[in-house]
Amino acid sequence: MIKLMLNILQLIVACVAVEVITEPKSLIVSVGQQNVNLSCKTPERQPIDFCIVNVPGVKAPFASSERLPAPVEGITFFGDGWKKGSCGVTLASVKPENDGSFECTISIRGQRHKGLIDIVVQVSPEPPVIEISRAIDHSDGTFNYGQPLIARCISRNDWPGAKLSWYLNDTQITDGLGAVFSEKVGRQVIVQQFFRKSIAIEDNRKRLVCRAEHGSYPRGYSEVSLSIKLRKSSDKNVVNDKTAVGATVMQFPKPQLIPSSDTEMIKDAFIAGTDAVLNCIVRNGTGDVKFIWFLDDHLIYEGLSALFVSQDDKGNVSVAQILKRKMELEDNGKSLVCKARSSRWTNETRLKFTITQWSK
Ligand SMILES: *[C@@H]1O[C@H](CO)[C@@H](O)[C@H](O)[C@H]1NC(C)=O
Ligand SMILES: *[C@@H]1O[C@H](CO)[C@@H](O)[C@H](O)[C@H]1NC(C)=O
Ligand SMILES: *[C@@H]1O[C@H](CO)[C@@H](O)[C@H](O)[C@H]1NC(C)=O
Ligand SMILES: *[C@@H]1O[C@H](CO)[C@@H](O)[C@H](O)[C@H]1NC(C)=O
Ligand SMILES: *[C@@H]1O[C@H](CO)[C@@H](O)[C@H](O)[C@H]1NC(C)=O
Repeated sequence: MIKLMLNILQLIVACVAVEVITEPKSLIVSVGQQNVNLSCKTPERQPIDFCIVNVPGVKAPFASSERLPAPVEGITFFGDGWKKGSCGVTLASVKPENDGSFECTISIRGQRHKGLIDIVVQVSPEPPVIEISRAIDHSDGTFNYGQPLIARCISRNDWPGAKLSWYLNDTQITDGLGAVFSEKVGRQVIVQQFFRKSIAIEDNRKRLVCRAEHGSYPRGYSEVSLSIKLRKSSDKNVVNDKTAVGATVMQFPKPQLIPSSDTEMIKDAFIAGTDAVLNCIVRNGTGDVKFIWFLDDHLIYEGLSALFVSQDDKGNVSVAQILKRKMELEDNGKSLVCKARSSRWTNETRLKFTITQWSK
């Protein structure tokens, strides 16, 4: 009975609760955008006793009133006034620090209510880039017919993240695309995606285009392209063995494969149906290391993260890449190979999968 009464009471409170009407509800703006209005209104325009606003990037909250000048340069009152149940601000010119949550606290007949507007100040990304996997012999700018083309497109320093799409000449690519990775570092995102295809005769002289869509580009997007040229058949069999030359002279680092600590495992066995996260890392190496992954003889190009490069205080560099993969029973006995290459050496590490069923 008491519970029922409480419920009814809660219902009544919910009906009475005043919702501040914010306009817009949220917005995406660019640095330097002018006269951006943020408005808070009471329902049915009930008069306001006072209105305090908290603008992201401004140190202290201040009263937003048609009668008081705002204490911050570049910010003015916006709205119809307290009597008409309306207050807010106009930002003369958006600054990077305005990214965040705008908040107005409105008092109506002594009761305080809050309104929020989510402001995303977008940052212009660097133009996207296409990188060709080092596993591909592309040093002379041409490709062999029938060989795989492995490329990735990277868009750096976006906010929010860019949307990537790929084209061959004017046709949008839908096959052979890997997962999109977004890595967030503070208010910047690195977005990347792999593309893989076998080079066919009809690809000759086509342009491979990666498009990054982002509101802050003047046209709404920015593109990078790579022209695909087929190698003449006479020099088709050139062996690309530069990497092996120095390897006999010096001992070069060997990559290590390490399962992440939150990968569920029973002893050394992975559990079917769970996600495994594996880190391949080269320590004491050079910064130009790239990885290629295989499961038995199949190239893996999905589930791979960006490269993580770090340097210790003595200047030794570690390079790592993470593979996320759903483990299946049929992976049991397969070997995961992480091959690391730099311009001077190549080395690899293997991990033979043992997969087990969940057992309680
Ligand atoms: C903000 O409000 C002012 C005054 O009503 C108006 O002139 C201006 O166009 C508005 N800004 C935008 C971006 O709509
Ligand atoms: C693709 O576009 C390039 C120039 O943009 C053109 O030279 C080439 O002929 C086109 N190839 C095909 C197969 O349409
Ligand atoms: C690969 O690493 C191992 C262990 O460090 C080393 O013994 C071997 O020589 C390396 N191989 C090459 C080709 O550098
Ligand atoms: C740096 O790496 C080299 C191997 O490449 C190793 O001999 C050396 O001890 C490392 N130094 C430090 C400080 O890690
Ligand atoms: C890298 O250098 C550190 C510091 O000298 C050393 O302890 C470590 O064994 C080295 N690792 C490899 C893989 O050579």
